[in-house]
Amino acid sequence: MFLLKAWRSTAFGVYGYLNFTKSGYINHSKHFNPEDMSIKIDGKNCIVTGANSGIGYATAHGLASRGATVYMVCRNKERGEAALSEIQSATGNQNLHLEVCDLSSINDIKSFASRFKAKDVPIHVLVNNAGLLENTRVTTSEGFELNFAVNVLGTYGMTELMLPLLEKTQPDARVITVSSGGMYTSPLTTDLQFSSGEFSGPEQYSRNKRIQVALTEKWAKKYGEKGIGFYAMHPGWAETPGVSKSLPSFSQKFEGKLRTSEEGADTEIWLALQPKEKLVSGGFYFDRTEAPKHLPFSATKSSNSTIDSIVDTLNSLGNFSI
Ligand SMILES: NC(=O)c1ccc[n+]([C@@H]2O[C@H](COP(=O)([O-])OP(=O)(O)OC[C@H]3O[C@@H](n4cnc5c(N)ncnc54)[C@H](OP(=O)(O)O)[C@@H]3O)[C@@H](O)[C@H]2O)c1
Repeated sequence: MFLLKAWRSTAFGVYGYLNFTKSGYINHSKHFNPEDMSIKIDGKNCIVTGANSGIGYATAHGLASRGATVYMVCRNKERGEAALSEIQSATGNQNLHLEVCDLSSINDIKSFASRFKAKDVPIHVLVNNAGLLENTRVTTSEGFELNFAVNVLGTYGMTELMLPLLEKTQPDARVITVSSGGMYTSPLTTDLQFSSGEFSGPEQYSRNKRIQVALTEKWAKKYGEKGIGFYAMHPGWAETPGVSKSLPSFSQKFEGKLRTSEEGADTEIWLALQPKEKLVSGGFYFDRTEAPKHLPFSATKSSNSTIDSIVDTLNSLGNFSI
């Protein structure tokens, strides 16, 4: 196991250095089609979670500048208001709304969902962007390990509860979930809250991000007939408040080599804009193209029964039935 873990980290480090940095973005962007981003989405309703900072802010900005009505889901009212007014003045788009919701709390997500459903707004795009890497083992007031609560249970609950509003915009509806290249180092595990072994924030984060990719596949199969597309993506390595706080030494080591938040958000926005015929539901995207879900010889593939069992656990923990 030690050798396998060492191989996974090495493969991830080399692959990441070559592709996830700013220079990777510059190389990949030579193949981008600029017309892909000139699509306007006036009148479409988009929810972006974690929209007050980093990649989520850049995504909300990018969608607002293309005419969307954007619902910015933020946990902190003041930070959310500040981000909203900055985006409003930069884009001139008045159709921005702040929704305060702490995605580490099932109760908060459920109350957001019932408030939102009462408005009966059809949702075209849900961007599950909010996420964190907490290095110490913190338990939420509802008793869940914090990384898991936000990255997995929060993402899962938000998506499941928004399905009825997404269905209203089918066949255009889509859910974009922001995973991480870090997931390449982890297979799926049913130890969702890191209950065994010595806790490691980065490992828990990569496990969470692997689950997001498997959930996306699962949703695509389960809800494909509802006309909703499900896409996971990763932004590469971008210099954001989250990265400098959670990974200070990584941030220092790669100073000047990381992507901007806008470069990190590029694929998120691209996935929101493209005609669905171009996209593969259940796919994992990076720099506007489908990316592998596993690195060679990393033994990170799991059977379908593992994600099925994870979904059963999430349903019983969150009781998200609609
Ligand atoms: N930057 C990278 O290199 C990188 C690489 C791979 C994946 N990602 C992923 O990209 C996404 C955005 O990350 P980022 O780098 O832009 O980090 P960031 O600047 O810290 O932004 C994260 C956003 O998520 C919000 N958030 C965290 N916990 C929340 C909660 N309990 N409820 C509601 N919102 C919450 C944050 O709100 P506050 O401002 O209130 O904390 C913030 O708005 C994350 O899913 C991250 O895992 C980033």
